[in-house]
Amino acid sequence: MSAIEIKNLTKDFEVDGQVITALKDVSLSIEKGDIFGIIGMSGAGKSTLVRSINYLEKPTDGTVSVDGVELGSLTEKELRKKRSKIGMIFQNFNLLEQKNVIDNVCFPLEIGGIKKKEARVRAKELLQLVGLSDKERAYPSQLSGGQKQRVAIARALATNPDILLCDEATSALDPQTTGSILELIKEINEKFGITVVIITHQMSVVTDICKKVAIIDGGRLVEVGLVDDIFKAPKSDAARELLSGKQNSFTPVKKLEAERKIRIVFQENSAYEPVIANLILKIQEPVNILKADTKNVGGRAVGEMILGLPDDEMKQAEIVSELKRAGLTVTEADENE
Ligand SMILES: Nc1ncnc2c1ncn2[C@@H]1O[C@H](COP(=O)(O)OP(=O)(O)O)[C@@H](O)[C@H]1O
Ligand SMILES: [Mg+2]
Repeated sequence: MSAIEIKNLTKDFEVDGQVITALKDVSLSIEKGDIFGIIGMSGAGKSTLVRSINYLEKPTDGTVSVDGVELGSLTEKELRKKRSKIGMIFQNFNLLEQKNVIDNVCFPLEIGGIKKKEARVRAKELLQLVGLSDKERAYPSQLSGGQKQRVAIARALATNPDILLCDEATSALDPQTTGSILELIKEINEKFGITVVIITHQMSVVTDICKKVAIIDGGRLVEVGLVDDIFKAPKSDAARELLSGKQNSFTPVKKLEAERKIRIVFQENSAYEPVIANLILKIQEPVNILKADTKNVGGRAVGEMILGLPDDEMKQAEIVSELKRAGLTVTEADENE
C-alpha cells in the first residue's frame, strides 16, 4: 500500500467567473518511507498538489488516499485526525511570532488536547532533535531563517506524523543553510521512517536528497521516476529546463578573457548544443562559452549565450557566419560581459 496515492486529480479554481485549471489529471504514488520530490516552475501547480495531499484543497475531480484511506470519504472530524498525521513546513516558516520557540512547538499538541506538561516534555525532545535546545525561550524574531525552519520542523513533528510535506521549505534559505535543513530532513526520514514530500523549484534540492521525483508543468505531471534516471536522461522539456538550472538568473559558466565576445540568441533550449558542437568540429578551434542564460520573453524561453572567440580574425569571421547560417542571432557582446 502506498503512503500517498493520487488518482486522476484535477483542481480548478474559479476567479471572476474564469476557470483556472491548477492541476489536470495528475496520478501519482508515493511509497512509505520515500523522500519524494515534486518539482516545477513557479505556477506549475506544486502548492496546489501538496495542499491536496492533506485536503486543504479538495479535488474538483479525482481522489487522494493516504495509507489506503480515501480522504474524500472522511467526515470533517476524521479528516482533522488524519491531518494531524501529516506535518507540513513552508517557505515562510509560519511560526507564531508572539509565542516563544517551545510554545510554538507545543501549540499543535495543546490544540490536540495533550496536557501542557506532557506537551512540554515532547517539545523539549523535538528541540533537541533539531538542535535548538538552547533556544526554547527565544522568539521567532530573534532567530535566523535556518533556526526558524528547525522550529517549524519540530512543530510539524510534534503530533508524530507519518508524512512530512515540505513546500519550498528551503527556498528562502542560503545554500549552506539549505544543506543543513535537508540533512536534518534526511535524518528524520531515516530515524522515524517518515514519508517526506519535497516541493521545490530547485533541481539541486531534488538531487541532494530525493530518491524519486515527479515533474509538473502547467498543472500536468510530465515525468516521474528515479532521480538518477531523470538526471541522466530527462525526457520532458520541463525536466531539461529545470536541469539546466536556467530558472536561476545569469549563470557565469567560466570566466575567461577573450579578445572578441559575441552574443548569440536562440529560441529553443536544445537548439544551440548541436550548433556549437558542429562549429567546434568544423572550425577546429575551441569556442569558450562564457555565460549562458535563459530569459522568459513573452511567455517563451529565449536562450542567450556569450561566446569568447579565438584571436584569429579569419576564424572569428568563419564562426560568426556559421552561427548565422544555423539561424542564430549574433551580435557583439559588451566589453564587460
Ligand atoms: N486559491 C486559488 N485561487 C485561484 N487560483 C489559484 C489558487 N491557488 C492557486 N491558484 C492558481 O493555480 C496555479 C498553480 O498555483 P500553485 O499551485 O501555487 O503553483 P506553484 O506552487 O507551483 O507555484 C496558478 O495559476 C495559481 O495562480
Ligand atoms: Mg508554490
